[in-house]
Amino acid sequence: MHSYASVDDCPTEPKHYTVAVHQTEDQNMSFRRLYIGVTTRRLSIQCFIASVFGSLIVLFLFNELSSDKLHHLQLRAWNFARNRLNVQDRGIKANMGPDENKAWNSRPQAAPSKHFAILAEMDVISKWSELEEMYRCFLDPSDNSTRPCNVFCPEHSTTIELIITKNVKDFSGTDAAIFGLSPFTLLKSVTKLMKYSIQIPPTQTAVLYSMESPLRVHKWIHRVGDLKYHVDLTYLPSADISVPYAYYQPGSFENTFERKANYAEGKTGLIAWMGSNCAKEVFWPRMEFIEELGRHLPLDTYGKCGKLTCLPRLSTKCVNLIGTYKFYLALENSECRDYITEKFWVSCLLNGVVPVVYGAPKEDFERLAPPNSYIHVSDFKSVEELATYILKVDQSDELYNKFFEWRNHGSVLVKYPKMQPSYFCRILPFLQGSRGMSGAKQIRNSKWFNSCRGNITRRFNISQVPTLKDWKPWKLGVNDYKDGF
Ligand SMILES: *[C@@H]1O[C@H](CO)[C@@H](O)[C@H](O)[C@H]1NC(C)=O
Ligand SMILES: *[C@@H]1O[C@H](CO)[C@@H](O)[C@H](O)[C@H]1NC(C)=O
Ligand SMILES: *[C@@H]1O[C@H](CO)[C@@H](O)[C@H](O)[C@H]1NC(C)=O
Repeated sequence: MHSYASVDDCPTEPKHYTVAVHQTEDQNMSFRRLYIGVTTRRLSIQCFIASVFGSLIVLFLFNELSSDKLHHLQLRAWNFARNRLNVQDRGIKANMGPDENKAWNSRPQAAPSKHFAILAEMDVISKWSELEEMYRCFLDPSDNSTRPCNVFCPEHSTTIELIITKNVKDFSGTDAAIFGLSPFTLLKSVTKLMKYSIQIPPTQTAVLYSMESPLRVHKWIHRVGDLKYHVDLTYLPSADISVPYAYYQPGSFENTFERKANYAEGKTGLIAWMGSNCAKEVFWPRMEFIEELGRHLPLDTYGKCGKLTCLPRLSTKCVNLIGTYKFYLALENSECRDYITEKFWVSCLLNGVVPVVYGAPKEDFERLAPPNSYIHVSDFKSVEELATYILKVDQSDELYNKFFEWRNHGSVLVKYPKMQPSYFCRILPFLQGSRGMSGAKQIRNSKWFNSCRGNITRRFNISQVPTLKDWKPWKLGVNDYKDGF
């Protein structure tokens, strides 16, 4: 879990922060631990420094620190925070006028020493709330033109310049070429990327970026497996640069949800499903499964393939509506490892709803999600048995409340949708390694491409998705579809 600590986070409207630092018994170790305590909370410090003009209160708590240690620690924390000002938070920027906003982007700082090109279009990323921070960094508000986004990376004392482009041509001369962030742009550029893949310049690192399941990307772009890359940035824990959608952190209390004596109280519905994708890009018999479940219990279905309507689907209104149900079907479109999206984390766990989950195998939920926070479809022999269990939990507040016990022991840290330009700093350590053609790997051999159930090159054809009758929930090592679908 701790490997994710460098993924940054900063609330949009910070009110106050407590930076708590604990000293250990061992005097020799204490400074080391203190420093870690501060750096893992560095964005809180950044928020503090950045809102010096606001009214933010910060408390440093120290236990019996010698004064020179304290001084050293403060110095490091302040230097760190000052550097972080170059990648300020949106909430703080929003309080500034357009000129200051521009100044933020071109704030005097070390000239960029590294240049990264991202293959994507402003029109595309403007529509994705996940990429809002990046869009803002690239958008010049004075005339709505596109500008480079400069990011200071304090861990490396380096400024990187990010440019966004829809032309593979513009990769030329940059230190890193990043593609996949917008599958739409990837599709349009795939022929040019194929050419790029056989002549990656010797000074360039190619970065594959994907927060989408490989099944979906492959269905769109069959040739994606042929492209080459050096470094991958995906939601997989095994990625070179791992950005999970979210994860559970035991012992952390960052979530601010109210704790209730009875989570069943006030619920007006039993179970709901909300979805816009009925079958086109769904790689298991999800719709049939939902229809079958609806035969055994009262299931409210929203969206294009449902009977009820709530739009826009990811709005606060619809998330609140989901909150009125006891259970929610958090069913991903793909049976792929670690592909656990905001449906699960935001619509359910942070929303006081018990998710009935499917997509990634249970092992992945056990590793990433809070213990006993969900019902996994693969635990049941049939849809009917699953329905019987849901109805049983519905009958017992005691059973239902057990699903919320984790809230007393830790927090769910959501890292996406909050993509920060500073995530790209994590590419820097890879620039010295494999570059050019010699170190390039084929996407079809990547962990990401091979993270789904069965053989992806067979499965892109939708007629290869089994019917419910021929389908069994995925159990790792038991029914991986090695030779079938
Ligand atoms: C930029 O675009 C937004 C949204 O389309 C618009 O409201 C705003 O007036 C534009 N600003 C300028 C300076 O053109
Ligand atoms: C996957 O299926 C394709 C097409 O049927 C086949 O060419 C390929 O060898 C298979 N790959 C694996 C790893 O089984
Ligand atoms: C998908 O599979 C069906 C039946 O197996 C076949 O008739 C069809 O041509 C395939 N489509 C593609 C795009 O390969």
